[in-house]
Amino acid sequence: MANDFIYSQPVKIIFGEGRIRGLGGILKEAGISRCMLLCDRFLRGRAEELAAEIPEICGVFSDIEENPQIKGVNEAAFLTRSYGAEAVAAMGGGSTMDTAKFAAAIACESDNALPYFRGEKRFPAKRLTVIAIPTTAGTGSEVTQVSVTSCGKEKKTINDPVFMPGMALIDPELTYSVPKRTTMNTGLDALAHALEGYWSRGHQPISDLMAKEAVKLVLGNLENAWRNGEDKEARRNMSMAALLGGLSFAMPKTAGCHACSYPLSEDYHLPHGEACAFTLSAFVRINSDERLGALAKEAGLSGTEELAERIDELKEMAGLRTRLSDLPDPDIDKLSRDCAAHPLMRNNPVEMNVESLREMFETLK
Ligand SMILES: NC(=O)c1ccc[n+]([C@@H]2O[C@H](COP(=O)([O-])OP(=O)(O)OC[C@H]3O[C@@H](n4cnc5c(N)ncnc54)[C@H](O)[C@@H]3O)[C@@H](O)[C@H]2O)c1
Ligand SMILES: [Fe+2]
Repeated sequence: MANDFIYSQPVKIIFGEGRIRGLGGILKEAGISRCMLLCDRFLRGRAEELAAEIPEICGVFSDIEENPQIKGVNEAAFLTRSYGAEAVAAMGGGSTMDTAKFAAAIACESDNALPYFRGEKRFPAKRLTVIAIPTTAGTGSEVTQVSVTSCGKEKKTINDPVFMPGMALIDPELTYSVPKRTTMNTGLDALAHALEGYWSRGHQPISDLMAKEAVKLVLGNLENAWRNGEDKEARRNMSMAALLGGLSFAMPKTAGCHACSYPLSEDYHLPHGEACAFTLSAFVRINSDERLGALAKEAGLSGTEELAERIDELKEMAGLRTRLSDLPDPDIDKLSRDCAAHPLMRNNPVEMNVESLREMFETLK
């Protein structure tokens, strides 16, 4: 039957304020006696406190940059091997979690990620468990089998079961310190995941339900979380939105906005969330149909046009770049060609080509 589907979600999810304080107990319960802790640079102090309290943490590594490079994966894998760790915990945003996922996938065999990145070598059969601890509310990487890393300018999404974390430990308190602009970028990434999971050609009923809830949560809470980072309810709801956003695209995959985000990040250095948000309202208009209209209405809006306008308002409110003229030396022809060639573009419900993408970018001039 046309509507048959397969759904699976193997990650144990632990959610709640203060849950990070239970990390030692979680490691003990899982029988993990040596765990490497990767963390965002900003959270180095917190990671060292955890390492002092929890004897199972055998090392801390925090040299991870935004849009993480293979070099960081190699260093993390090297330390993980040197310390004889059995698991890798990742406390940070998508950059830290994706580095940890890659390092844990290769550490039993190697500390050179390049041949795996290039697809020249298959991932080893044995891998280390990952405990993903998100500190931004955006990527949903804690529940996806995706790792996004770069080698020089080339940014690549690898979608492989070896990257599935064993556990997601989601403590909204860890997001209270996220700066305003990153709060907006990452929150719009979560919205893009939910909307793209919903309209992706591969969408299916269970993912749809989570996407609808994630859209409602982002529209109801992102502005508050951005205005006041200490708003506990808004932060909690955004952590939940990011989790549900991750679950809603994990199987259907993302589509046009994420396809365009890669050239926008590679050539114009936009952070991931801002790069996805750049074309999000344009794709809401392009992909507008009865089904998307019903979702917008369920979220309390009059329809898809109001959804697109609301996204634009959020971007402008936080000073995100919204027009090509905000980018240095924009090249519409190259951008349209590169976006059309990205494999995720094939998931977009409306077929897009170089010409229709050029038309879309003309509206963003
Ligand atoms: N694996 C997936 O499923 C998936 C999905 C979407 C995006 N991504 C990837 O994830 C990366 C983006 O991740 P991100 O948006 O979470 O950003 P990030 O991890 O790059 O972090 C952004 C900034 O926020 C800071 N930061 C993080 N947590 C903080 C905290 N609690 N307090 C203060 N500052 C904090 C970091 O130091 C950094 O400067 C990109 O590489 C993107 O391609 C992966
Ligand atoms: Fe994303």
